[in-house]
Amino acid sequence: MNELLNVGEFLDAAAAKIDPAVWCYFEGGAEDEVTLRENLAAFSRWQLRPRMLVDVGEINLETTLLGATVSMPLGIAPFALQRLLDPGAERATTCAAATAGALAVVPTLTSYRHAELQAAADGPRWLQLYVQTDRARTLDHLAEARETGYTAVALTVDLPLIGRRERDLRLGFAIPPEIPLHYGTLVDVDPTLTWRDLEWIRAATDLPLVLKGIVTREDTVLAAEHGVDGIWVSNHGGRQLDGVAPPIDALPEVVEAADGRCEVYVDGGFRRGSDVVKALALGARAAFVARPIAAGLAVDGEAGVSRVLELLRDEIALALGLLGCTSPEQVSRAHIQRALS
Ligand code: LAC
Repeated sequence: MNELLNVGEFLDAAAAKIDPAVWCYFEGGAEDEVTLRENLAAFSRWQLRPRMLVDVGEINLETTLLGATVSMPLGIAPFALQRLLDPGAERATTCAAATAGALAVVPTLTSYRHAELQAAADGPRWLQLYVQTDRARTLDHLAEARETGYTAVALTVDLPLIGRRERDLRLGFAIPPEIPLHYGTLVDVDPTLTWRDLEWIRAATDLPLVLKGIVTREDTVLAAEHGVDGIWVSNHGGRQLDGVAPPIDALPEVVEAADGRCEVYVDGGFRRGSDVVKALALGARAAFVARPIAAGLAVDGEAGVSRVLELLRDEIALALGLLGCTSPEQVSRAHIQRALS
């Protein structure tokens, strides 16, 4: 693992190691994968505007996410079925995040129980929530999350139906029945969920609420009117509606519409520290990654995830310093421009 220099090399190593009929689930996107590719390509259409002769002798990446102090403006996005990559699964990613002081967002489709994760690691954790058709199951899930140290709920809103992932169909991927899923399944996600149900969720938990999967100013305004605490700009890693704009391009309109009423986060295609710095410049409070973490997990379990987080942390610090900033808060809209050609 030590020879892997960056996230791209971790992704290549994971693809070489894991059975293609399994890795396809983590790597792939929906239909023609236009959005999957665009999520990555979009970063090169934004250019940084560094400032010179700034004292960057001390760089501090610390920030807060809904009040929780984290060591850097990058967290682990939720992704399902981690046990397919390593037996440590969610326990490994949660422990690596805690060691790094980074935020871990634990998926509804975790194979470890929340109490097991809490016992293993005491870092900041949010719960990713899929509302199940059986609402009682979701109420139990929220109650358990409250008991086991979660500090916010990130409700995924962009999966009322499951995108058509043709790589999975081609290679015959199916969720192995032996993986224990204690809190819900994809086929039981409630497709009838609407804005009105946010009141139900609000009544069911006093944890701060983040909506994950918003990509328009219209939904940002609705989310803010519903009093959400955070908006997470995401197109589900290009796995849902193909043809959606890349999150880094949707970010400015969401930030503008949010108008400081809630925190804004983003995921989708982040591979470099400079990508994270671009998101900060466009108004995100933090970025999240899943595939890079999946790659670390596949390559070397918890140690692999730790290494990916370390590489990204070093890249963020370097990019920040070269930009002429010593903290995430100093990065502003003046530090970025649309590419001229
Ligand atoms: C997926 C769900 C689990 O993208 O989020 O497969």
